[in-house]
Amino acid sequence: MARRRQIYEGKAKILYEGPEPGTIIQYFKDDATAFNAQKKGTISGKGVLNNRISEHVFTLLQHIGVPTHFIRRLNMREQLVRQCEIIPIEVVVRNVVAGSLSKRLGIEEGTQLPRTLIEYYYKDDALGDPMVTEEHIACFGWAGQEEMHDIADMAIRVNDFMSGMFAAIGIRLVDFKLEFGRVFDGEFARVILADEISPDGCRLWDMETGEKLDKDRFRRDLGGEVEAYQEVARRLGLLPEGLDTDVLDLESHRKKRGK
Ligand code: TMP
Ligand code: ASP
Repeated sequence: MARRRQIYEGKAKILYEGPEPGTIIQYFKDDATAFNAQKKGTISGKGVLNNRISEHVFTLLQHIGVPTHFIRRLNMREQLVRQCEIIPIEVVVRNVVAGSLSKRLGIEEGTQLPRTLIEYYYKDDALGDPMVTEEHIACFGWAGQEEMHDIADMAIRVNDFMSGMFAAIGIRLVDFKLEFGRVFDGEFARVILADEISPDGCRLWDMETGEKLDKDRFRRDLGGEVEAYQEVARRLGLLPEGLDTDVLDLESHRKKRGK
């Protein structure tokens, strides 16, 4: 890894300088955190699965005309992406009540929302990513009016597309989080979808059993995290039949071999 410069290390990914100006390499770690990193752990093989799942989703989104940072997957744990200026807002899209919405408003998890809900959170770990309104975003200049219009529009398109994609494989898309970035063409700035889309930032419930196939397995100590992520990848057609967890468990294999 010493051959390139590390730009940033986040909770689940490391960013390296890409091979050409304006590009970045996203390395997907097996590290998992929850509750603003108060809970930490590793899910062996998660990075490999998220890299693959995110590649798949971003590629399909690009096909339907959603501009994204994704360029191509490089290997099991890395993808090449377009460098962008991350807008410091986590965009949460909800179809069904769960998680913090359920807690905040006292509505039972699993309640279908009458319409899709979009929420914004200010990306600041030290503050615990507080929920903010469009008024705060405009007031503090985190994003412009037009940018917010584009963000909401893209969030709805991503939700429509992904709800269908997951429904087709027996999965209910409960909610998910998106991040957007700015790219510049001279003076002109444009918003593109950035970060990743994977079971780390989505709630995915099996339509028949209600089983959770996402990071809530880790957050809520349910166990079977990697099997759940693998099941999502398998249903999306991304895993050859019969590939088991050991094959994906590269990081612990490497550690065992002392590398
Ligand atoms: P929440 O119910 O905890 O607010 O989460 C809503 C969705 O956003 C859920 O799918 C998980 C995702 N999410 C993240 O990806 N990162 C975060 O830091 C948080 C709080 C939620
Ligand atoms: N990833 C976030 C954290 O650890 C929270 C979460 O996904 O639940 O802060």
